[in-house]
Amino acid sequence: SKGAALVAAVAQRLTSLRRQVSETLSLFRLKEEQLQLVKARMRSGLDAGLRSKSSSTIKMLPSFVYLTPDGTERGKYLALDLGGTNFRALLVRFKKQTSRLYHKIYTIPLEIMQGTGEELFDHLAQCVCDFLDYMGLKNTRLPAGFTFSFPCEQSAIDTGTLVAWTKGFKATDSEGHDVVSMLREAIKRRNDIDLDIVALINDTVGTMMSCAHEDQRCEIGMIAGTGTNLCYMEELKNIEKIEQRMCINTEWGGLGDDGCLDDIITLYDTEVDQNSINQGKQRFEKMTSGMYLGEVVRQVLLDLTRRGLLFKGHVSETLKTPGIFETKYLSQIESDRLALLQVRSILQQLGLHGTCHDSIIVKHVCLVVSRRAAQLCGAGMAAVVDKIRENRGLDHLDIAVGVDGSLYKLHPHFSQVLKETVRVMAPQCDVTFQPSEEGSGKGAALIAAVARRKRDV
Ligand code: GLC
Repeated sequence: SKGAALVAAVAQRLTSLRRQVSETLSLFRLKEEQLQLVKARMRSGLDAGLRSKSSSTIKMLPSFVYLTPDGTERGKYLALDLGGTNFRALLVRFKKQTSRLYHKIYTIPLEIMQGTGEELFDHLAQCVCDFLDYMGLKNTRLPAGFTFSFPCEQSAIDTGTLVAWTKGFKATDSEGHDVVSMLREAIKRRNDIDLDIVALINDTVGTMMSCAHEDQRCEIGMIAGTGTNLCYMEELKNIEKIEQRMCINTEWGGLGDDGCLDDIITLYDTEVDQNSINQGKQRFEKMTSGMYLGEVVRQVLLDLTRRGLLFKGHVSETLKTPGIFETKYLSQIESDRLALLQVRSILQQLGLHGTCHDSIIVKHVCLVVSRRAAQLCGAGMAAVVDKIRENRGLDHLDIAVGVDGSLYKLHPHFSQVLKETVRVMAPQCDVTFQPSEEGSGKGAALIAAVARRKRDV
């Protein structure tokens, strides 16, 4: 009959829609073999970066941090932390085995992030001045650690030239300059405060140090937040033929900048890269970190909508707006405790009006995108721990990772998937993840303490 034919046609159409959505999502589902390839490529990137920095996409930057803290650190230190969307000034006080911490957060306006270098550093100096004033310390000269979470080519613990901005930063006249000098000059220009900047630190290194304070096995630092990166203790004999270890900031977010990930990069990733301020750069980071995951999701939703598979084919202005899906929304949407109606209402708050069925699709998109991110980081981590294990000629390695960042700490599944992937992909290593408390701040202060101790002896 006519009715039955109609029902059959509708059913067929539904099946076809479902198939199209699931084909799109499957672009993000990586097979074990693909993850093994990512691990192998990360490994060759790490090795190539140690051999020659210039030609490798993974920079492997020496940090000049050799020592792990030994618990004898004492005194008051300032930590200045620039890396995500905020600048933080902290005062860290070490007393016996404990530390106390006071801090203040300053937002960095977009026009300053993307203005001139001088304006940016003047702004930082202004924040430091405000903080010292607030703490009643304006007339002291405290030793300070500067956590600057961008790739810096260091020649000592307290000097480093910015190789390239990453994440949302783009201030002019900074790349190729020593950022410690830039901060010192900005402070000099003000002429109302004084600082003794003793160390320049990447956030990964600070995170590793702060965890090493509690657990001597901690020899890796990882950030899964706005950006993604990792540092680890490398044998110096691999670099300078000395029996000692130095922490290397890998800047692993650059994996794939030579095209080596093109077989897993989707058209949506390409779109996100094309719309970014550093095209062609940080391809791994753009598939794995908070600043970009929401954008990948948005690109998929746009495509599904344009193909009539979502939101009744209506491409709203909201959906066309970059940045609507912050990591916190992904975390909420993917939360297991949330009923579908709640997901729908989050989407409505964002200005995306759809049916419950639309909400299911959106949730699936978020799930596959963030799962892929965690798996890719896991494959990268597996490469690192196996490298450390081989460096030391061990059959089995027991190691801890200090880890920080919004994706790791706040996302409902990221950390679980990351751990599971490392377990499967590095079966000869036992990797413990330790979320760091105030990693980059406390770590910077610890490094400042160690740097000062070395300078004094
Ligand atoms: C970016 C930076 C890197 C930093 C990471 C996490 O990848 O280049 O230096 O560690 O973000 O903040």
